[in-house]
Amino acid sequence: MSVKPWGGAFDAQTDPRVEKFTESISFDSRLAAVDIRGSQAHARMLASVGLLTSDESRQIIETLAEIGGEIARGEMVWKTELEDIHMHIESALIARIGDVGRKLHTARSRNDQVSTDLKLYVRDSLTTIDGLLRELQRAFVDRCASDADVVLPGFTHLQRAQPVMAAHYWLAYCEKFQRDRERIADCLKRVNVLPLGAAALAGTSLPIDRHETARLLGFTGSSTSLSLEPAVAANSLDVSSDRDFLAESIFDLSLIAVHLSGWAEEWILWCTTEFGFLKLPDAYTTGSSIMPQKRNPDVLELIRGKSARVIADVTQILTLLKGLPLAYNRDLQEDKLAFFDAIDTVQACLELAPSIVRYAMLKVETINARLEEGFLDATTLMEYLIGRGVPMRTGHEVVGKLVRLCESRQCKLADLSLAELQTAHEKIEAGVSDFIGVKNVVARLASFGSGGRIPVLQQVAAWTQRLTE
Ligand code: ARG
Repeated sequence: MSVKPWGGAFDAQTDPRVEKFTESISFDSRLAAVDIRGSQAHARMLASVGLLTSDESRQIIETLAEIGGEIARGEMVWKTELEDIHMHIESALIARIGDVGRKLHTARSRNDQVSTDLKLYVRDSLTTIDGLLRELQRAFVDRCASDADVVLPGFTHLQRAQPVMAAHYWLAYCEKFQRDRERIADCLKRVNVLPLGAAALAGTSLPIDRHETARLLGFTGSSTSLSLEPAVAANSLDVSSDRDFLAESIFDLSLIAVHLSGWAEEWILWCTTEFGFLKLPDAYTTGSSIMPQKRNPDVLELIRGKSARVIADVTQILTLLKGLPLAYNRDLQEDKLAFFDAIDTVQACLELAPSIVRYAMLKVETINARLEEGFLDATTLMEYLIGRGVPMRTGHEVVGKLVRLCESRQCKLADLSLAELQTAHEKIEAGVSDFIGVKNVVARLASFGSGGRIPVLQQVAAWTQRLTE
């Protein structure tokens, strides 16, 4: 009477409203391909331990492939009463090959199955994100060559601070995205541990070989499949409840979104008339329906705005997991919504970001016209004094007074005469002129990791190398 694979003990049909409330097929159908991959490996393992004949295993694997093709072509009709992707695929299998199909779910439950599916899906998705991050890094590194001679004001508190090479900005983002990539690689180590075979919560009395399944699915406990040691989750109760890998994936995605948002905000500021540092490519801006002159940075604004969703996804998954008793609870079905939203949002942003980075133009004339404003050389002048034995705090005070003098005269430090500089401190000599003015400053910011010409060129070379490996 019941179409439900679990309906044996039930004598009443499920209320259709309950079916509608409990279904996940409307969002987990996107797990179809990984569900099939997982089931095929499971069937192969079952045959290797004699729980299926090799003929049965082959039949299951081939039929699953056909079902996968049907789903990929959009031919499968989703039915609310079949709840989720796992039951759709299993029912389709049984409809085609009968009793042989009824053997596939041996020694597994949907609990370890959905976790396996998710891990396969997360692995593929994070690998895609890693590739996109790399592309974005490439876009920034390529800019370093085209903007090789450009110097920008660096800011703290959004106040002009010290000058840095434009490439220093670009590589700052490369560093952030590199840490994001490292976080992904680290997260993948825990993603790559096999849940399947934990069954519902207690494991199984059947003689399965989970290490074989792990090997077949490339679960090797490392971020690359170079290591051949299979990695298998060692506690079946933990498997049924563990969504740590989703929580950390979503967090990793949220930090990428936050990095993108900071970059977007910066460039939005830079393309205002007030800053005038940057012109965004027309193809990535939009116009106003009333103001003909407008070129709005909507894409950057949405990249900034969409980070809110990914941050909310972190809150969603943590709140979902908080206070769940062992082992599986149906609450966990909602985990996918958080992950899918996070991955889709970040992927969409990362697909557009590299082109914006590549095709935006620095307005070098505007930048240069105001580069000597804001005393970007004050700190280096203080360092000149330190180099001549003046205590740092004294140097700070001396330059502070010189800045005040300049402010009262509306001039730059470079406009002061040597005699005026010397009245501020007797250690100042003619050579001081090599420490004043933006050009001199970027020549002097030379220590490792600084924003001056020499260390930045070294970093550009290192990054170019790193991204071509
Ligand atoms: N659709 C379910 C989920 O996403 C699959 C697992 C169902 N398990 C169960 N015992 N009802 O979590």
